[in-house]
Amino acid sequence: MKKINVITIDGPSASGKGSLAKNIANQFGIDILDSGSLYRLYAYFTELKFDSVEIQNKISNEIKFELKDMSIDIKYKSKNISNEIRSEDIAKFASKLSTRSEVRQSLYSIQRNFYMQKGLVADGRDMGTVVFKDAKLKIFLTASIEERAKRRYLELQNRGQEVNMPDLMADIEQRDFKDRSRDLSPLFPADDAHIIDSSNMSAEEVFLCTKKLYEKEFY
Ligand code: C5P
Repeated sequence: MKKINVITIDGPSASGKGSLAKNIANQFGIDILDSGSLYRLYAYFTELKFDSVEIQNKISNEIKFELKDMSIDIKYKSKNISNEIRSEDIAKFASKLSTRSEVRQSLYSIQRNFYMQKGLVADGRDMGTVVFKDAKLKIFLTASIEERAKRRYLELQNRGQEVNMPDLMADIEQRDFKDRSRDLSPLFPADDAHIIDSSNMSAEEVFLCTKKLYEKEFY
């Protein structure tokens, strides 16, 4: 299989995939795909009562993604909807919708279209196993449930969202279970993925470890 200039970062919720992907995109000047945000947008537009054809159209043509340092702004009709789509409610609905074949199919080509010549870092659940099987470098990033809940708690708090730790932990565990046990594109490491357990690592350490692998594979 001919390999393409993509680095995939898969793993369970709040394992640090997003931060790692942004660090890689910034350091190497490549494009970024946060595939979870597409599932969240699907949920967002479903709540607004759009049908699947309209949703596919909107995500392809009316949404603008903009990487700004360590955050990705998501704009719809010039309105920044990043915070809205990153709520736990939207996450739960996205997780439910992500089990449907028509939803996964409609997002497949949108995700592949993020790949341009300059290269791409893509994070999600099935980037290395389904969407970019032909990626040059695959990372599977994981961490203990306690550590991941702590990270998500701080992230939501920083965004000014109200959070309750026991509920958050239960939500994350439930979502992981669903993502791992669904029939379509379940969450698991690709055979050729490098597995990194970040429970006892800082974000900086995870980045340096990935950077080494990237430089070995891409240069
Ligand atoms: O990564 P994030 O938490 O934003 O993803 C929201 C939900 O979208 C996940 O819990 C998962 O169910 C779904 N998802 C998916 N495949 C991806 C990315 C996200 O099924 N590649």
